[in-house]
Amino acid sequence: MNLPFAESFKIKMVEPIRRSTREEREKWMKDANYNLFKLKSDYVFIDLLTDSGTGAMSDKQWSELMLGDESYAGARSYYNMKEAIKTILNFDYFLPTHQGRAAENVLFSVLIKEGDIIPGNSHFDTTKGHIEFRKAIALDVTIDEAKDTQIDLPFKGNHDLKKLEDAMAKHADKVPFILVTVTNNTAGGQPVSMECIKGVRAIADKYKKMVVFDSARFAENAYFIKTREKGYENKTIKEIVKEMYSYADAMTMSAKKDAIVNMGGFIATKHQDLFEKACMFNIMFEGYITYGGMSGRDMNALAVGLDEGTEFEYLETRIKQVEYLGKKLDEYGIPYQRPAGGHAIFIDAKKVLSNVPREQFPAQTLGVELYLEAGVRGVEIGAILADRDPVTRENRFPELELLRLAIPRRTYTNNHMDLVAAALKNVYDRRDAITKGFTIVKEQPIMRHFTVDLERVK
Ligand code: F0G
Repeated sequence: MNLPFAESFKIKMVEPIRRSTREEREKWMKDANYNLFKLKSDYVFIDLLTDSGTGAMSDKQWSELMLGDESYAGARSYYNMKEAIKTILNFDYFLPTHQGRAAENVLFSVLIKEGDIIPGNSHFDTTKGHIEFRKAIALDVTIDEAKDTQIDLPFKGNHDLKKLEDAMAKHADKVPFILVTVTNNTAGGQPVSMECIKGVRAIADKYKKMVVFDSARFAENAYFIKTREKGYENKTIKEIVKEMYSYADAMTMSAKKDAIVNMGGFIATKHQDLFEKACMFNIMFEGYITYGGMSGRDMNALAVGLDEGTEFEYLETRIKQVEYLGKKLDEYGIPYQRPAGGHAIFIDAKKVLSNVPREQFPAQTLGVELYLEAGVRGVEIGAILADRDPVTRENRFPELELLRLAIPRRTYTNNHMDLVAAALKNVYDRRDAITKGFTIVKEQPIMRHFTVDLERVK
């Protein structure tokens, strides 16, 4: 008999979570103005809002917390992080920041000015926010296939190199750098192939531009390259990661994902001049250059996390859990962005709640329904997240209207996944009866999804 796949860790510490009743959830959801971000986490049974900062650190990471050096300048922990970044990513220069968007803020303060255009494969919302806040344009050049959830492609997060070349031919003078987001979160946790990365590098070289990697889930991307791209099957994850970053000038990192820490991030670059310019902004916005918003103990845990997060056994356990949830949904016929992503399953809310008009936010509606059904919290990746157009102030309706179920690293078991799938099936079975969604009562001009207030359409 073939042995089944099993997790490459055992559990040493647990955190109790609490079930609730439907009546309780109805009240809590209404009190939160139907914004899932506004729920107390105690009101959530299984929390798939994000995989960011929600993972379980290893015993080795926890032990490193005790060894943190909290010196203001020149801390040992800073040098531990520096060594990990050099060894794993091969960057000589780096700046710690408190998380990924802080890294974007610091780096973009150096690189982006009003009127610039930044082409990339589906800029993440904070990335887009930091670009648009500077009155620049985030130009999406992701392949068109990413917009059809039912097309199964190994590298659905790729740039369309033709679109990129055309954009460069037209706007090169306004482009400070090309962005590569690995994995492509917005398109469904979909990876970018090494072939595509090389293609982006070639175009950047032709126009003498830099390539910046948004690296939140770079290790998951490397796992997909190893398991899906010809020629990489016998390479280690660390070898693949090294090659990926050989094509980058700089990176921003939200370490809360693939470095498996609860808080932290960084910028890394090969260019001394860029580093020196970024130092000033880091000191202003984050902290002195050897801690940048992180405590020494957290820098230690991050250094270990970078190493553990780029080990095949860990990644295989993680990504197979996401796949497991995907297979359950296949059994029930529930449509999601194919293939299953690295960190999450993205339910196609337009297909599930086809009776809810786009203007009434089907993905948000599905998220609320799933929460009411079983206390499972996902997050809308659709029109609310897309914000209004910065110029016309009209709502933007992206092609994809998704409910993301992001799976924290090393946190839940497959029994939890079974419950999530069953809860979704219950909602799916009564989908035809769900005909009304929500309207916005109150919103902020940028990144409104975090704080938006909604009410049910009557
Ligand atoms: N880039 C990507 C691709 C991300 O997914 C995120 C965060 C960031 C940058 C910003 O990093 O949160 O540390 O400031 N994504 C989280 C998510 C919030 O839920 O997907 P941060």
